[in-house]
Amino acid sequence: MKVLVLHGPNLNLLGRREPEIYGSKTLDQLNEEIEALASQLGLEVDFFQSNQEGVLIDRLHQAAGTYQWIVFNPGALSHYSYALRDAVAGIGVPTIEVHMSNVQAREEFRARSVIAPACVGQITGFGAASYFLALYAIFERAGI
Ligand code: DQA
Repeated sequence: MKVLVLHGPNLNLLGRREPEIYGSKTLDQLNEEIEALASQLGLEVDFFQSNQEGVLIDRLHQAAGTYQWIVFNPGALSHYSYALRDAVAGIGVPTIEVHMSNVQAREEFRARSVIAPACVGQITGFGAASYFLALYAIFERAGI
């Protein structure tokens, strides 16, 4: 079972970006923890981060046929990228949207995701554990 963990804009800044909201772990540290849990659950994970909408779209297109699941934190693009939503809807790979912060409890513009309706579900507000919960959901769905 191969899972692509896709991080969108500004997630490369984790560790120094608004630590009171996103915590002090770097993206590399987060990915290591995701990797450790994935291997315990028998999932194979690859990681990709980009600050570019088009690059994320290309990566989603390439994912079809290779990955059985995608865990996607689209960052601020969640709130307005119809192109990413169409990519998720178009590739036919079940996708879970994750957010580290609770997007419902912040500025109004964050409360809406245009991508989530194309996803299997959305997990928001649990920091690094948002990603871990997504892996558990895949594990449960896959009946591993
Ligand atoms: C985020 C929430 C978004 O609103 C924000 O733009 C991000 C990070 C999160 O993980 O909490 O970049 O996706």
